[in-house]
Amino acid sequence: MNHIQACLFDLDGVLVDTAKYHYLAWKRLANELGFDFTEQDNERLKGVSRMASLDILLSIGKLTLEDAKKQELAARKNDWYVESISRMDHTEILPGAMEYLQACRENGLKTALGSASKNAMIILNNTGLTPYFDAIIDGTRTSNAKPDPEVFLLGAQELGISPDNCVVFEDAEAGIEAARRAGMNCIGIGSPATLNQADFVIASLAEMTVERLDQLEQAVGTQE
Ligand code: BG6
Ligand code: MG
Repeated sequence: MNHIQACLFDLDGVLVDTAKYHYLAWKRLANELGFDFTEQDNERLKGVSRMASLDILLSIGKLTLEDAKKQELAARKNDWYVESISRMDHTEILPGAMEYLQACRENGLKTALGSASKNAMIILNNTGLTPYFDAIIDGTRTSNAKPDPEVFLLGAQELGISPDNCVVFEDAEAGIEAARRAGMNCIGIGSPATLNQADFVIASLAEMTVERLDQLEQAVGTQE
């Protein structure tokens, strides 16, 4: 039998394509502050927490602001972002995601969400994904952002599964590092060039099957 007993999923970029909404909101903020923010710049924000994202954005605009002002800007960006995700529905679930979650459950694998987003519940509820998870860990439940392993360790703990029997699905380098530091297997979603620390990389969950979990060797725990 495969040693994998649980699958943990990042949300943005793995189950749903919300990167475009983050991008539009950050771009709007940058433009209001008087500088441009490109899609290439946006790549640097993937998997990064809200305040760390703002710091990167401000560094691109060469701006240094006080804390209170930064809080205000992050809240403004978030209002625009929430406006976009409030209109989401099941058509914005990425190809293969729902099918793979279903297959996990049919095959007795536990499932957990491990996301940095404080808005994860809005997205899960609007897309109808909430019932597919045995545990949901989001940015409202963690104090340390990826690449810290907290979000995934908490997920494994809540599922009652040992980290080396877990596999994480991630599209961001910081998320893959978090999975590694948690002592978990990790499958990258996206480009093998950037996600080279993953056990293997697939273009999307449409390529994933429960049988492919056999490709994962027994994880060597590096838990911190
Ligand atoms: C991650 C996204 O999932 O969540 C990041 O990849 C985002 O781009 C982070 O900044 C925090 O999200 P939120 O919804 O709490 O601002
Ligand atoms: Mg992601």
